[in-house]
Amino acid sequence: MTDRYQSFTGSPLGKLFVKNLGLPNPTPLERWTEGAPVVDGTVVTGGDGRLAKSLVIALDNLGVTSVGNAVEGEKYKGLVFDATGITGSGGLVALEQFFTPLMRSLTPNARVVVLGTVPEHTGGPEERVAQRALEGFTRSLGKEIGKGSTVNLVYVAPGAEETLESTLSFFLSPKSAYVSGQVARLGATGTRESAPVADPAKPLTGKVAIVTGASRGIGEQIARVLHRDGATVLGIDVPQAASELQALMRDLDGDHLTLDITGKDAPQRIAQHVKTKFGQVHAVVHNAGITRDKKLANMAEDRWSSVIAVNLTAPERITRELLDQDLIADNGRVVGVSSIAGIAGNVGQTNYAASKAGVIGLVDALSGELEDGITINAVAPGFIITQMTAAVPFATREVGQRMNAMSQGGLPVDVAEAIAWYLSPGSTAVNGNVVRVCGQMMLGA
Ligand SMILES: NC(=O)c1ccc[n+]([C@@H]2O[C@H](COP(=O)([O-])OP(=O)(O)OC[C@H]3O[C@@H](n4cnc5c(N)ncnc54)[C@H](O)[C@@H]3O)[C@@H](O)[C@H]2O)c1
Repeated sequence: MTDRYQSFTGSPLGKLFVKNLGLPNPTPLERWTEGAPVVDGTVVTGGDGRLAKSLVIALDNLGVTSVGNAVEGEKYKGLVFDATGITGSGGLVALEQFFTPLMRSLTPNARVVVLGTVPEHTGGPEERVAQRALEGFTRSLGKEIGKGSTVNLVYVAPGAEETLESTLSFFLSPKSAYVSGQVARLGATGTRESAPVADPAKPLTGKVAIVTGASRGIGEQIARVLHRDGATVLGIDVPQAASELQALMRDLDGDHLTLDITGKDAPQRIAQHVKTKFGQVHAVVHNAGITRDKKLANMAEDRWSSVIAVNLTAPERITRELLDQDLIADNGRVVGVSSIAGIAGNVGQTNYAASKAGVIGLVDALSGELEDGITINAVAPGFIITQMTAAVPFATREVGQRMNAMSQGGLPVDVAEAIAWYLSPGSTAVNGNVVRVCGQMMLGA
């Protein structure tokens, strides 16, 4: 499941083709490795807003070297602009004044983060307009920056200033390699104080995380990354995948449960297992999913029903059961795995897109309702190279892989890193978000 096009464009002959035919030329993306710093280089900060103080503290805590003034001729690994001081459309020129002179000073795989105020939480209509404008700026810069670099917008609600750290740690580091043009909101649904992390290298130490569909693909990688971050993983998958699941969980010192999550008593069996083995869990990651693609005109009812049952009804029922039995610990996390198909729609995927849009609905429905610091968020992957996408016909797969700002497919680890950010104890104010892990796909919102 390698990207043969990318290997080809890296070869001498491939380079010639790319140059002469104007073909997409994907930059190899840097991924985070254990022990690496958050940012391997210097970040330039700018802007004039209410986040100035918390930004300095957060960068300092993360060990990030930052400067307020760029030096000509130097190369920078990141830019962070505090745009919370912009209260009217005329003030947006500050973006041009800060970014334009710096755009040629960035290294490949650079990170750009714009900080704003959640538009609904601004002081008045003019400020709301200006803050909303930041989205268009971010998404366009994401599409033009190139060279494996990313641009993301973090809206911080008043009162959530001190919760920046975990989110900056994600968006500034190689952990967000395939996340660009996205908007994250902190404290939009009620601010929660950031929980302290004893060991930043293992933020999930002592926590138990359920991962459904954990035996392979994205689920396997989620399990590996959460284990890397210190969690004990309870992997769940169908009985047919038992041997792979057991082998993986042995490898990760985790626990496993084989069942079909659509089974009538599956939520109760999971709850019983959690209660007897662990007492409570910190997180549940609803990753298991299936596709049964057909145009609606040819759709058989079982293809429709099975997709809705696995992708949507099971996460709803399992979440409800765990909450009702108080089996999700305080400051716990619920994570859905949606899809860009659930945002933009896709031919032959009315069933799948309905299920994945429903996952976003679950986030919307529960984010304002959960108590005791429990959050719910979702990731919406784009084209991620797994066995699921290996089944996509060659031509469609090639187009799917290229039609994003990175000109390449993402890796399961890219989805896993976004989920690890949601699970971080510091992400208490990250609630109600749906972040796409799609290399900023050209289609869709
Ligand atoms: N690969 C992509 O490009 C992509 C894009 C968008 C969204 N997603 C979503 O990411 C998730 C993981 O996708 P993947 O590519 O790793 O798929 P995959 O097919 O490789 O893995 C899915 C896993 O879920 C398990 N599973 C399926 N039905 C189950 C059931 N009823 N009970 C328990 N386990 C069950 C499977 O056995 C498998 O281990 C899915 O929700 C998928 O919809 C994937």
